[in-house]
Amino acid sequence: MKAFGYQGGELFAEGVSVRELAERYGTPLYIYSRGHFISRYRALAEAMKAVKPLLCYSVKANSNGAVLRTFAEQGSGFDIVSGGELYRVRQAGGDPARVVYAGVGKSMPEIEYALREGILFFTVESEPEAAMISQVAQRLGVKGRVAFRVNPGVDPRTHTYISTGKKENKFGLDLERVRHAYAAAAKMPNLEIVGLHMHIGSQILSAEPFAEAMKVVAELAAELKALYPGFRYMDIGGGIGIQYKPDQDALDPKTYASALTPWLQKLGLEVVMEPGRGLVGNGGILVCRVVAVKDSYFKKFVVIDAGMNDLIRPALYQAHHEIQAVRETDARVFGDLVGPICESGDFLAADRELPAAQAGDLLAVMSAGAYGFSMSSTYNSRPRVAEVMVEGTRQALVREREAWPDLVRGERAFSS
Ligand code: LLP
Repeated sequence: MKAFGYQGGELFAEGVSVRELAERYGTPLYIYSRGHFISRYRALAEAMKAVKPLLCYSVKANSNGAVLRTFAEQGSGFDIVSGGELYRVRQAGGDPARVVYAGVGKSMPEIEYALREGILFFTVESEPEAAMISQVAQRLGVKGRVAFRVNPGVDPRTHTYISTGKKENKFGLDLERVRHAYAAAAKMPNLEIVGLHMHIGSQILSAEPFAEAMKVVAELAAELKALYPGFRYMDIGGGIGIQYKPDQDALDPKTYASALTPWLQKLGLEVVMEPGRGLVGNGGILVCRVVAVKDSYFKKFVVIDAGMNDLIRPALYQAHHEIQAVRETDARVFGDLVGPICESGDFLAADRELPAAQAGDLLAVMSAGAYGFSMSSTYNSRPRVAEVMVEGTRQALVREREAWPDLVRGERAFSS
């Protein structure tokens, strides 16, 4: 389904006018297409049906409760990376028995919370972390289910900051150490070894790196399956890339599936997946209003009311997001789309052809459904923006715009 498109010269989110939403809720504004989320979830489940995976939506991509609830209603599990994410999943009605918990620095209180909630398993990054889980589990009188994260040492051919499965990355354990870690964990009293995990990176546009990694990991998984009686899950992580640029081809879930399912079928383990961006990235936009257009030396700057604090991907990864005018136009200008933040890195598009716009016009930053709001901050004391979800012709505010008092909530005077 097409989440965002022009109808009669105006940009629509499914069946709702983007201009009307911007007028009603103000800008900057994140708008999400619920229909897109559901159709992407179903397309991935369908593509992978030969192995009937448990899809654990990766909460970090977009952690709004309405988004989590949408996936929970589809039967989705969740991939979390903090106690806060588990809390969000629980608030949204997610099933803790379908939660997998990743991350290199889990704290004792977070581990305890996850054990009390009875999550499916922890994906473990090191031997000391396994020991910590065993220790907390012992104190609670339970067993912690664990799957070590292996770093298969492949290059996912994506941005360096979002590669995780290369030899130099901090994530996972190398092939030799991971075997050692399993042997050590097997001796820890309150652990059950239930599987193996990998996640090689994000925004991967070809199936090859996945296949390369799977080839390495399948051998290890078969070996572990023979060694440990409770070993039953192969968690293949996330990473499916989406289309950000018009000339880019997204990684089709079917292409991804055909590269991986033969290996997975042969393994005969229960498959867990952790898709994030692939489910939500193209299902969200960030709508902003032009504040001013100015020229300087040799450049044109279109200044908008959204900044790097609202969407940090361009500043952090030189990420490309398409910019569309909310009222359709063919007129173009060349320049930078910049925000109000006091940083030269505060741009949403740099040296690009942009829709010609004047102060007061609305622009949409496309493909902002993943790692948009969830990475936003209040830098420069800018309250976090509102989020709206649409489905067909229905729309609802799913997060209020923050106000100035929210900025100082919790602060205390230092009195001498
Ligand atoms: N599983 C694990 C263990 C992860 O670390 C991640 C993402 C995912 C699953 C979901 O990956 P996805 O399907 O979304 O590619 N902020 C960056 C992306 C960071 C990804 C972090 N880990 C960006 O805006 O591009």
